[in-house]
Amino acid sequence: MSLKIINIGQLATFNPEKGKVERSAGVEVECENGLITSVGLDLTPADKELDAEGALVTPGFVDCHTHPIFAASRADEFSQRAAGKTYQEIAATGGGIMSSVRSLMEMDEAELLEAVKRRMEKFLFLGTTTVEAKSGYGLSTESELKSLSVLSSVAEEVEVDIIPTFLGAHDFPEEFSDNKEAYIDLICQEMIPAVAEQAVAEFCDVFCEDGWFDVSSSRRILTAAREYGMKLRLHADEFKDSGAASLAAELKVSSADHLMHVSEEAISDMAQAGVVATLLPGTTFFLGKSAYAPARRFIKAGVEVAVATDYNPGSSMIQSMPFVMSLACLYMGMTVTEAFSSATYGAAKSLGREDVLGSILPGKQADIILWNINSLEEIPYYIADNRVRSVIKKGKLVHGSQ
Ligand code: NIG
Ligand code: FE
Repeated sequence: MSLKIINIGQLATFNPEKGKVERSAGVEVECENGLITSVGLDLTPADKELDAEGALVTPGFVDCHTHPIFAASRADEFSQRAAGKTYQEIAATGGGIMSSVRSLMEMDEAELLEAVKRRMEKFLFLGTTTVEAKSGYGLSTESELKSLSVLSSVAEEVEVDIIPTFLGAHDFPEEFSDNKEAYIDLICQEMIPAVAEQAVAEFCDVFCEDGWFDVSSSRRILTAAREYGMKLRLHADEFKDSGAASLAAELKVSSADHLMHVSEEAISDMAQAGVVATLLPGTTFFLGKSAYAPARRFIKAGVEVAVATDYNPGSSMIQSMPFVMSLACLYMGMTVTEAFSSATYGAAKSLGREDVLGSILPGKQADIILWNINSLEEIPYYIADNRVRSVIKKGKLVHGSQ
């Protein structure tokens, strides 16, 4: 079945061949078998037509950093922070990631599946057509595998594409607090082989941060994962410069994420190594902090920048990529076109999918948003609103009106 989008007021997309965002008026987009077949004027008739009503059309968003497999809300921590506590203080007294580990353990699989499914439907409603999703609230072989297996069941039931990441190295379970080395052994010798055997994760990630996994443990875990054929990403320098971004460059991981406290030296290491910087301004905002990641320094150094939500119950209850674009413009000094290409093409690149995702060009996957606004500038302008009218996934209308 072929589908044609007509009456487009503004088609905006990053064009990788030209290295810039392009806008065109009056063009049509035709899709067949899940792919974009042509973009141009007066295209041949299709089986079905979708009228953009003179409004904006863009690629679907790619959210390349989320933690959506959790059970309970952590609104209590939001209120503790509002009363003056920090994220680290809350984590040190049994809250934080460990509180999500406890609530996940208590939730049965069917209930978890329903919760994750609803979250994925919400992503689509906000215009996100691909989601990278991490485990990491299990922290035992059984519970990590449960999270990843729930995720693969959800992936079969929802329209949004899910790219799974194993994050067993998110925190240390209580029983290992006096013997952290033993938990790292467990990750390397039992969890990674089991995750690879069941083929339930494409990437392996580590929370490399002072107080969590240090650089040498992170190196060990990522090296083991690479031996098992997994691709790599890294939570790096979120609260402090701990040398994590340089490790990301040393291992040439696909993406180093957060990076609020990255050093100048590590930025140039990342540029040299071709590591994508995934910046998560929603986390800085949600934690009430002011040190946003230095987007301009990354751009100046020639590092590819992606932006993502970091959606998770503790540090970013945010699923909206348009809102992340607003924050990128307001607090990281990015232009609207930079924020837009980082939320689409840059994010696809951080996942190694830029050949098929993140732009509207012939041959790419037909993941497209029809908006009820008229220009790119209006996406970050309508803060805390949802101006997505319809979403097309793999050439099929999956959300919104005809
Ligand atoms: O990306 N930094 C580590 N992981 C998450 C927080 C997870 C949590 O607090 O539950 C993050 O911010
Ligand atoms: Fe994260």
